[in-house]
Amino acid sequence: MTELRPGRTCPVGYRYGAQALAAPAALRVDTLWVAGGLYGNVFALERLLELYRCEPGRKALVFNGDFHWFDVDAADFLRVNRSVLEHCAMRGNVETELANPAEGAGCGCGYPEWVGDADVARSNRIIERLRETALGVRGAAAALAALPMHLVAQVGGERVGVVHGDAESLAGWGFSQEVLAHADGAQAARDACARAGVRVFASSHSCLPVLQRLDADLAIVNNGAAGMPNFAGTRFGLATRISLRPGSGALYRVQVAGLSVEAVALEYDAVAWERSFLAQWPPGSDAHRSYYRRIAHGPRYAAAQALRVAQEVT
Ligand SMILES: [Fe+2]
Repeated sequence: MTELRPGRTCPVGYRYGAQALAAPAALRVDTLWVAGGLYGNVFALERLLELYRCEPGRKALVFNGDFHWFDVDAADFLRVNRSVLEHCAMRGNVETELANPAEGAGCGCGYPEWVGDADVARSNRIIERLRETALGVRGAAAALAALPMHLVAQVGGERVGVVHGDAESLAGWGFSQEVLAHADGAQAARDACARAGVRVFASSHSCLPVLQRLDADLAIVNNGAAGMPNFAGTRFGLATRISLRPGSGALYRVQVAGLSVEAVALEYDAVAWERSFLAQWPPGSDAHRSYYRRIAHGPRYAAAQALRVAQEVT
């Protein structure tokens, strides 16, 4: 029998495989926005929707999972839930474990070994606390459980796969900056693009952003977190924009098969968000111990590390 390791184990129900994405596109647009890891930050949500409203033409906004996390306040939870479900939404491990907890899954993060046991244990307790909030919102669990785990969007004439984790599973780390930094990780990503028949995979989940060109016509883009800072010394979130037209606000971008694949900064009200976070997760709480430093100062990671071309992998 497989040992259950809450927060480490990837539940069987999370697995789909890249071939599952070799299906007709669910969306046909000229511009696709993808925002993963909103983590219950209502100020980042507000900023994202402002930017998205200004986008002209045929467009879609996809929330690719983990839109809940810190929002244990019922009003915040409800606001996030309503706004996200008005757009195209997919479930991440957070929504899956809120809606339909798998035995021994914990937070469902499927954390790799480089994440410490104390962080994993705190995440498992955060999901339990958040579940109490979700249970108080009528219909929330059923709505979240019904969301898909992946989709394909056709942007112009090109297919874009949207996942929460990677091409294989909801909580896979194959599209993390750590795995993509190695030649075998980059090769696995190329193979996944071929099996799914996509030019670009957009993901999130692993919490740090990466935009990596795999070859002239393939790329992986991971927005890191929409609702938390992604770079040292910064206090903005990130979303992904994939479009036939280059946008004016890209932090960095690559051009892939006629698509501009971009990281867009979500300059939310960081002071208001910090106040809201502290009200929900005061000093000493699990989320404060795991995330406050990042919320206030950003992670030890730079934008120059996130933007990569194939020749740079080792
Ligand atoms: Fe996740």
